[in-house]
Formats: sequence, C-alpha cells, structure tokens
Amino acid sequence: MAIAAITAEHENPLVAGLERQPVAPTALVIFGATGDLARRKLLPALYNLAHEGALPERFHLVGISRQEKAHEDYRAECEQAIRAFSRRAPDEDVLAGLLDQVKYLPGVFDDPGVYAELGRTLDEFDEQTGERLSRAFYLSTAPDFFSVIVGQLGGSGLSRRSETEVRVIIEKPFGASLKQARELNARVLSVFDESQVFRIDHYLGKETVQNMLAFRFANGMFEPLWNRNYIDQVQITAAEDLGIGGRAGYYDQAGALRDLIQNHMLQLLCHVAMEPPGSFTAEEVRNEKVKVLHAIAAPAEDDIPEMAVRAQYAAGHSGGEDVPGYLEEEGVPADSITETYAALRLEVDNWRWAGVPFYLRAGKRLARKITEIAITLKPVPHLAFSQDGSLGVQPNQLILTLQPNEGVTLQLGAKIPGTRMLIRPVNMEFLYGTSFLSQSPEAYERLIMDAMRGDPTLFTRNDEVEAQWQICDPIVKYWAPTHPATPGPLSQYEAGSQGPPQANDILREGESWRAI
Ligand code: BG6
Repeated sequence: MAIAAITAEHENPLVAGLERQPVAPTALVIFGATGDLARRKLLPALYNLAHEGALPERFHLVGISRQEKAHEDYRAECEQAIRAFSRRAPDEDVLAGLLDQVKYLPGVFDDPGVYAELGRTLDEFDEQTGERLSRAFYLSTAPDFFSVIVGQLGGSGLSRRSETEVRVIIEKPFGASLKQARELNARVLSVFDESQVFRIDHYLGKETVQNMLAFRFANGMFEPLWNRNYIDQVQITAAEDLGIGGRAGYYDQAGALRDLIQNHMLQLLCHVAMEPPGSFTAEEVRNEKVKVLHAIAAPAEDDIPEMAVRAQYAAGHSGGEDVPGYLEEEGVPADSITETYAALRLEVDNWRWAGVPFYLRAGKRLARKITEIAITLKPVPHLAFSQDGSLGVQPNQLILTLQPNEGVTLQLGAKIPGTRMLIRPVNMEFLYGTSFLSQSPEAYERLIMDAMRGDPTLFTRNDEVEAQWQICDPIVKYWAPTHPATPGPLSQYEAGSQGPPQANDILREGESWRAI
C-alpha cells in the first residue's frame, strides 16, 4: 500500500526539492529499533518524510532488537514515539499508512538465524511488489554491535546484490579511538564497498551547517577576507544546558572530546576552513574537508596541557532547579574522570590559515544551549578617533548561530547618535526564522533521504573519520585514566555556569571566550 502524504507548497523548499527526485522503492531495516535514537529521532523523521510525500511509494520498515514482541506491539510503540517526538502533529491517515508498513523482528545481533529470517522478510517484500526493493540497513545500536552486525550481514549474503541496492548506515561513534576506527573501517569495507556506506554525523544534516556552504560559496564578499590576513581567530562552541540524562553508560565511556569534538565540531571547523570545492559532488566536498583535517597536526604529548582543557560539572543550578554534579548522576562511577567539558586550540597549517587559532569547546550543563561559530577579524590598523571615541571600537565579528535562533550576525562599529564621536558595536542580523518563515526539517530527515537515495555528500568518508581521530587520539590517550599524567580529580565547573576558568589558559594573551 502506498503511504498517503500531506504536502504543502509553502513548506521548506529543500524538502520540496527532495520530493521531486524519486527515491527507489526501499526496505529500511533499523537495528536497535527500540532504542532512544530510533524513538526520538528516526521514527519521527520517517513520519515527517511520509508527511511530506518524500518517502518512496513502496516503503517498508523492519525494526530489529532483542526484546520479544509482536508486530502490533512494535507498531504501537512507533506510534507513541511519533506522537511524542514528531516536529509536527501527525495526520492520522499518513501515520496509519506508515505504521501499516512496519514489521518487527526480535533477535540478538550475533545470531545468524535473525539474518536468515530478515532475508526471508525482505524477499517477501520483493515478491509482494514484483520488484527488487533497495535495502538500507541502519545500525542504531550500541557501537559494540556495529562490527558484529556488519559481519553477519556479510556472512548471510544480505550485503550483496547490486551495490546500488544495498546500503548500510552507521551511527556515531565510529570507534572510540583511531585504532578502533581503523579496525571498524577495515571490517565494514571487507563486506561493503565505500559507496554503500553512510557514516552518520547528524550535524551535517542540519540546515544551518549546510547554510555555511551557501554563506561562504554563494557570496563573493567574504572570500577576500577569509584568510590569515584578515581573520584573527575562530571560536566554535557547542554548549548544552542539559546534563547526561540517562546516558551514563555511554557517556562515561565517551566524554565530551569523543562525543562532540571528534565528530560534530571538527566538521564545523572543516566547513569554516575548507577551500571551495570545484563542484558540489560528494567526493569533491569530502576531499576538501579531508585536506583541512590533514593540515591539523596531531598534538604532541608535551603540547597537550597548553592546548587542551577538560573539566567535569559539579552540582549547581540549571533551568531554574538545583541539579546534581556529574559524579552524582545515576550510573556514573564515583571516581570517574570522564570530562563533560573539553576545549581545544587547533591550528590549520596551510597557506590560508597558518597562525590563526581555532578554538573549540563543548560541554554539558553550561549556562544555556548554544551552538555557534564566531569569527573575529583583526583590529583596524589605526584609530584616528579621540581616546574616548576609540574606547568602544572592537574588531568586527561574524557569528554563525547554528542553534537556537539560527542565523548570521555581523558585528560592526557604529557611531552613537549625539554630538560626540563615540563608537560602539552594533549587529546586522539575518535570522532563518524571519527570512524563510518555515520550519527547518530535522537533520535525520535529510540524512535518511540522502542515504536511501545513495547520496553520500553529507556523510563522513572512511579517510575523513580516520583523519578526525588522528587529531583527537593523542588527547584521548593523554587523558586516559591509565596515563601517567592523569591528574586525579578533574577541574570542576558549577552546573549552569560558563565552564571552567582553566579554559582561559589555552587562549592567547588578551583573548577571552565569548559568553555562553
Ligand atoms: C550527540 C551527542 O551526537 O549530539 C549528544 O551524543 C549531544 O551528547 C548531541 O547532546 C547534540 O546534538 P544537537 O543536535 O542537540 O546539537
């Protein structure tokens, strides 16, 4: 049965664009179908795609996870997740049409029987429709299972057929170290061709991240300034007000460096620093990003204390309530030295960027949720105003806000009205919400569509993910509990604050972090 769709002319033109390009009939298989990611992100994204009419007319969803349950029970869970987390209130017909296509398969991921059963189910879809459906396997499980599932897909023959028909989508984290990432890549590429592999970094699916490419490469005015001659420093911040929620099991193994910096934040850095690609093909765009990553030297051990800072949140006040410290969170070992805040100073050693510091910081339980890139230009070479007049003059800043209040702000110096020449910074602002009057699709909507369509532009390539690890791996090792330099209890910052004061130590003299 085809899924009914509601489409609205006024809605996001990008999604409207997606509607026009057909996606081959597809069976999507989600491993880890009862997990948090599936419930909060993947199922609501699928509903919204169905709502837009963007899913292929022939579409089947198979959920696999360990728990025994009937198809109907799983459908009821899907419905509940969609009602709870969809960005729009579900239309009953569209929802019913989507749920009709859902099947559930219980099983453990290392049991070959599960894959035999899955194969039969997928073959039945082909027989029912009289055509070969493309198959997309979405690995939304704990990372330990990625390798197991890939191996089983290979062993059962499910990875083979024509390459264009079988794809594997792999969630983050892609390994917990450079070594693991290499091993996982080797495993994945022994079963699949790289063109079949879609490694998720959900930041790449965010409208505002894609807009950075439009901002840089669809506007001529910034390019002449976009280099070491005019840019003084770049600060990239991913601050969250929330703590770790119920994710202690994962987070305590990961920490802020692996959770956000190794992937999302390095991707943001790449978007700022990359050269214009010759064309917007997947390979050209990813080639340019990999060049940036290769231009960042892996930190030497001796340099790490001067360029990297970590800390943990202590009890404090957030969202109007008293909140516990990290060590008091449920499931966190009382002696954990996992960082919930990390800040780095990196340099991109190439012709365009040599000498410009790129500061990256990410943390949980900070003053508020904000993801932004602040580019500070060099100060003017000479101030002709009187001393008073010059006081308010500050270097220009360009701030790309990814969330919330997505937009771009250009900070300029302007004369304060009056008889004296006094100057202060003012903002020129573009806000997504007011300029486009539409709700942006969730990153996962775009990414699921692109993976089903076989467009890897917004996914991380094998060499890219390894290059990201090459930068972070020495710091991960240096911060490991077993490293001789391990400092005992970590620096702390109060929940709801700006982060640890030690973060200032990696800045150059006279510099400060932007307020969160
Ligand atoms: C995930 C991290 O990848 O990104 C989370 O695992 C983090 O810890 C999340 O909260 C942030 O994503 P967003 O889209 O809310 O910025």
